[in-house]
Amino acid sequence: MDGSSEHDARLEVRGGRRLEGEVVLSGAKNSALKLLAASLLTTDPCVIRRVPRITDVATMVTMLRALGAQADPVGDGDVLRVHAGSGLSGCAPYELVRTMRASIIVMGPLVARLGEATIAMPGGCNIGPRRIDFHIRGLEKLGAHIDIDHGFIRVHSDGLKGAVVPLDYPSVGATENLLMAATAAEGETVIENAAREPEIMDLCAFLAGMGAEIEGAGTSTIHIAGGRPLHGVDHAVIADRIEAGTYLLMGAATSGRVTTIGLDPAHLELFLTKLRAMGVQVEEGEERITVSRDGPLAPVDISTLPHPGFATDLQAQTMVLLSLAEGTSIITENVFENRFVVVDELNRLGAGIETSGHHAVIAGPRSLSGTVVEAPDLRGGAALVTAGLVADGQTEVRSVYHIDRGYEDLTGKLRILGADVSRAGEGPRTEPEMPASLKSCDDEAVRSA
Ligand code: UD1
Repeated sequence: MDGSSEHDARLEVRGGRRLEGEVVLSGAKNSALKLLAASLLTTDPCVIRRVPRITDVATMVTMLRALGAQADPVGDGDVLRVHAGSGLSGCAPYELVRTMRASIIVMGPLVARLGEATIAMPGGCNIGPRRIDFHIRGLEKLGAHIDIDHGFIRVHSDGLKGAVVPLDYPSVGATENLLMAATAAEGETVIENAAREPEIMDLCAFLAGMGAEIEGAGTSTIHIAGGRPLHGVDHAVIADRIEAGTYLLMGAATSGRVTTIGLDPAHLELFLTKLRAMGVQVEEGEERITVSRDGPLAPVDISTLPHPGFATDLQAQTMVLLSLAEGTSIITENVFENRFVVVDELNRLGAGIETSGHHAVIAGPRSLSGTVVEAPDLRGGAALVTAGLVADGQTEVRSVYHIDRGYEDLTGKLRILGADVSRAGEGPRTEPEMPASLKSCDDEAVRSA
């Protein structure tokens, strides 16, 4: 051991190569995490296929085990079996929630299954405060009692009751928590202004496979007939549209030709429309998308919005392509505050981006030149790698652990496409690992509450 850790890992990208070839997509991070949580709803085992080998999944598996469920790989592939039999606990500890804010998603299934949940309050994160008020107000509408003290959210219910739950905003996480809680509520629940992301549809398909009765998945109004007995399910996760978009942008940025395999092109409709408007050639097939480029890029304006709007998770990577366009583009970020954190690092690579509030003005065309940069978060990290692929010389991207949260084997997939990229320092943590200091909710501070 040289004392290095996964946090020291870095990617070295030597730019200037055209990416060419096919990339097989992994399962969607933002779906797999929710399906793992949904497995808590039944005492039967659930089998989930095409689970991406990324550190966020490892964290969720650790969470499921901390809650008392068994969660184990089947074979050495991408299949996980989750069995939340008897002995399930309702406490999601701080050490795990702070590592991954998406852990809040166990709240709905735990209340449904146990009538109670104690979840550590997620802290802020690099892309803004990320509130949970919609989750809380929605659960209260279903009859849950909620207290927040000592840094924990305590949810208790003597039996959830179906209700009409209008969301102020189509929050992905709130829609998912409410969907899962509503499966156990007496009578019908209607979620109004629900999120319409493909990952919500995947969760609804998973729940339906368990025996839940759900109508309206993929629309703004979802009806759930509560109280149906839920059993085990065998389900394959949909492909990751954000991973797909990232490789397609990398292909377009390097004037290459890249095909993604496994994703329904409809999941990226507006994104592909914007690529075409920039002058990128896009071919769509069944679960295949190919981009190629041989001419200059035109500037375009983009506003991020909930699905089917332009995905905020592709905003940072798209900023790199716009930096190469012949003219000025404007990106308006409407989903998260403070989601331009990568701009300073992109500018250090030679981009000309100015931000003001939730607008970014991207002046192009710029030629980029490699240097040492720091990944500020998951998608910002992917943007820096994209920039490194077109930059002159070597770009060293540090804090790769952010990228490992959401991209399975980025280095391997990029090499298949012909990129000159290598990884230094430790590999990603894709095996679950219980934090040494994991505290249960029986700890002193909590008991005294
Ligand atoms: C999910 C995705 C994330 C994606 C985002 C938007 C996962 C694990 N993460 O995050 O990658 O970028 O959807 O597509 O699936 N908000 C509130 N109160 C709430 C809930 C949300 O004010 O109770 C605000 C948030 O601060 C944010 C906006 O609503 O500004 C969108 O959040 P939401 O749709 O809930 O995103 P997540 O589920 O956290």
